[in-house]
Amino acid sequence: MNTQETIDVLNRLLESELMALEYYRIHGEAIAEEDIADGVRSIFPAEYNHAVTLTGRIRDLGGVPAVAGGDASLRGRQMGEQSRPQGTLQMLRMELEQEQQAIKDYAQPLADITDDIVTLEILEEQLLDEMRHAMWLKKKILELESNR
Ligand SMILES: [Fe+2]
Ligand SMILES: [Fe+2]
Repeated sequence: MNTQETIDVLNRLLESELMALEYYRIHGEAIAEEDIADGVRSIFPAEYNHAVTLTGRIRDLGGVPAVAGGDASLRGRQMGEQSRPQGTLQMLRMELEQEQQAIKDYAQPLADITDDIVTLEILEEQLLDEMRHAMWLKKKILELESNR
């Protein structure tokens, strides 16, 4: 993968992180169950750090990073607002779908990049976070489903 291709991949990941910031913020305020809301709110700083780290790496590689407040943020806000009235379970299911996609989106360049160890280390660390987020969401969703 050449540098421009790496920058493009990192920018797509960054856009997903900017989206995530919006729906996690909205859901963190909307979810009524205090323990679940706390868990969702604790994911927010991780996604924020992901966005900051990707932004820095894109700049270091000479690229122009996506910024908050653009199309990705707008899309994330829509996703958050649309799922919000559907209730906690649906909000968590939407978040899980996005985390599942993020796992795949981080794994692909981790497999494909062969010549940029700094980027690989960032992707590896952030993939592990997304896997933990997905695991937490799967457990909460199973709990909610079994209590219905
Ligand atoms: Fe993330
Ligand atoms: Fe995540």
